[in-house]
Amino acid sequence: MFDHLDLLPEDPILGLSQVFAKDDRSDKVNLAVGVYQDDSGNTPVLEVVKQGQRRMLDEQISKAYIAQAGDVKFLSGMSELILGSINLNLDSAGRVAAVQTPGGCGALRIASEVLGKSRPDCTVWVSTPTWANHQPLIGSAGLTIVAYPYYDLNSKTIQFDDMLAALEQASAGDAVLLHACCHNPTGADLTSAQWDALTKLCKSKDLFPFIDFAYQGFGQGLQEDAYGVRKMAAELDELIISASCSKNFGLYRERVGALLFIGAERESTAAAKSHALVAARRSYTMAPYHGAGIVGYILHNAELRAAWEIELSSMRNRINGMRKRLCDGLNQAQSTIDFSFIDGQWGMFSFLGISKEHVLELRDKFGIYILESSRINVAGISDSNIDYVVEKIASVVDQA
Ligand code: LMR
Repeated sequence: MFDHLDLLPEDPILGLSQVFAKDDRSDKVNLAVGVYQDDSGNTPVLEVVKQGQRRMLDEQISKAYIAQAGDVKFLSGMSELILGSINLNLDSAGRVAAVQTPGGCGALRIASEVLGKSRPDCTVWVSTPTWANHQPLIGSAGLTIVAYPYYDLNSKTIQFDDMLAALEQASAGDAVLLHACCHNPTGADLTSAQWDALTKLCKSKDLFPFIDFAYQGFGQGLQEDAYGVRKMAAELDELIISASCSKNFGLYRERVGALLFIGAERESTAAAKSHALVAARRSYTMAPYHGAGIVGYILHNAELRAAWEIELSSMRNRINGMRKRLCDGLNQAQSTIDFSFIDGQWGMFSFLGISKEHVLELRDKFGIYILESSRINVAGISDSNIDYVVEKIASVVDQA
């Protein structure tokens, strides 16, 4: 049987982490995979997660199945976290339905299957560039993918007019994949005014927003990062939100995600949810409980929730502080590229805008790992490696 299979290449992001792990240089730096690291280079278990986990387990009386849609406390907590005050109105009108998923990837995949059931000819418009796994996840559910312009590598700015012009060409009912905040891989986020304009366009052209919300709280703040999602949920009839707790709760390996359907009315919202449950049943039946149980516990406990917000802010502030130091350091150390854009971007990622040859030189000669696209994870930079990173990046770009 297996002799009919070719060996496939490693995943471009996860595979590079394996290469990094095998590199025995003591000064190696991992700026590749999107995982938060503290100043010592560790990806810590949040203190609040340790506490929530302990209490959740102490109170747990069974390991029997939970409801197929997921943990009730997790789902209500996530709906409120994502939608804020409009959650109440949508909920009382039966216009919001949530399903727990194995990570944000699970949400994206199940959402794509529901879109495919609802409209088999649905086209999904995705930004150029977008996260490397969007296309495989959405495409393998059978949907057609078309690109819209988003980020100009030369000017390091969002090509918003071009984006709108491209979406003007979309057909009614097409889906538009949007990054709610902390755009992966560019770090270039839409302003509130741009979200407003995009909402208007989606309304007038009857386009369906499919929003990936993987980094709530990692950009400007829990509320600020939700601006676009809430604007669209308040003004449009229908949309989908795929959320992840990998980053903001540091629960990467627990695979905690949520899929939110906002529907035009009660019946169609319930129908969308029922298709998600059937898609899940056909594949993994229901999402794992453990991580979602912790998140649900924290979100419903005032003391733990406050403690979580403080820990989340400190991760965010560290990333934003590193952005400033990296930008200043690079601008002082070399004279080929103006790196000021790094400080105006949000979340873990930025495109350095350097060539693939320079990326490989950084990896081979200096053990600094970044993606071939030149995406760096700013959260991998720390007090102990920033001088080294700045010096080596400057040395490769200045020799050009
Ligand atoms: C990333 O973009 O590096 C992260 O989202 C991890 C992943 O699964 O690719």
